[in-house]
Amino acid sequence: RKDIRIGLFGFGVVGQGLHTVLARTPGLRARIGRIGVKDRAKPRPLPAGLFTYSRHDLLQDDSLNVIVELIDDADEAYRIVTEALRRGKAVVTANKKMLAEHLPELIDLQRQTGTPLLYEAAACASLPVIRNLEEYYDNDLLESVEGIINGSTNYILTAMHHDALSFEQALSQAQALGFAESNPALDVEGLDARNKLVLLLAHAFGLVVAPTQLLTIGIDRISPLATAYAKEQGYALKLVAEARRLPGNGSVAAAVLPMLVKPEHELARVQDEYNGLITQSSFADRQFFLGRGAGAFPTASAVLSDLSALTYGYRYEYKKLHQQAHLALAPSAAELE
Ligand code: HSE
Repeated sequence: RKDIRIGLFGFGVVGQGLHTVLARTPGLRARIGRIGVKDRAKPRPLPAGLFTYSRHDLLQDDSLNVIVELIDDADEAYRIVTEALRRGKAVVTANKKMLAEHLPELIDLQRQTGTPLLYEAAACASLPVIRNLEEYYDNDLLESVEGIINGSTNYILTAMHHDALSFEQALSQAQALGFAESNPALDVEGLDARNKLVLLLAHAFGLVVAPTQLLTIGIDRISPLATAYAKEQGYALKLVAEARRLPGNGSVAAAVLPMLVKPEHELARVQDEYNGLITQSSFADRQFFLGRGAGAFPTASAVLSDLSALTYGYRYEYKKLHQQAHLALAPSAAELE
């Protein structure tokens, strides 16, 4: 096991969370060597010498063997990640938007360079989802993956339902707690969940699609009538991402939609910024994963897990790509029931 010296890009909610988490994890021989940030004016809680404003300072520093990318700008993140892989530096990222938009190229680049790119933190924060889908169900055929995979919108829906907050009040709380994207439209319009669903599809079914191929309806489209109806009938309104293998021909139906959930359903128990994911497979049958889906430490815990995985040479094999699943064009209402 070799020591990890991290070049960290970004020092926001998750970057700072990672710094604290690493300081409390002496067992993992990993430390942050340099931090690349954008804003020169922002006060920083660590010595100024640790920070740099030039991406080359991190990417060209041979003493840094792992790049952790936790910035907001997906285009800049793509430049950083691809250059790091070409230079043979392993990468850990939480950037679901960047990953979803460039997954085919990034899979190819890992193959060409033989350098791993891990992203457990990009979907469902603390829930061990990506490596689990990739590894555990290797031979046990997965039939469906469905759940709540955006913490902010679940926080908003919970606060509106239980605390009778307005949408605006609930959203500003989700922002203040560090759950929301810096552009919260990504959460509210279902686009963040859509990006995460792209990653789940790749590891659950070997299906690599562009995010724009997925039917997506956000919580901004929930009418007051639907909210009132849900309350009256005792249903929970949830933003659900779903991927389901259809019988027969290897196609998978996938979508992000607001749904009415019965009170006895597992997803009705997913409150606040928690995420919940239900898998259905041939032998394991039905499983339910529940945990914090956003926030500094839960997200940093997934980055920490990836760093640890790198020390024993782990990489995604994208084992299910050979299954050649394809996306069903439009899922019917019955299939999404
Ligand atoms: N904005 C995201 C969410 C952060 O609310 O789920 C975690 O990916």
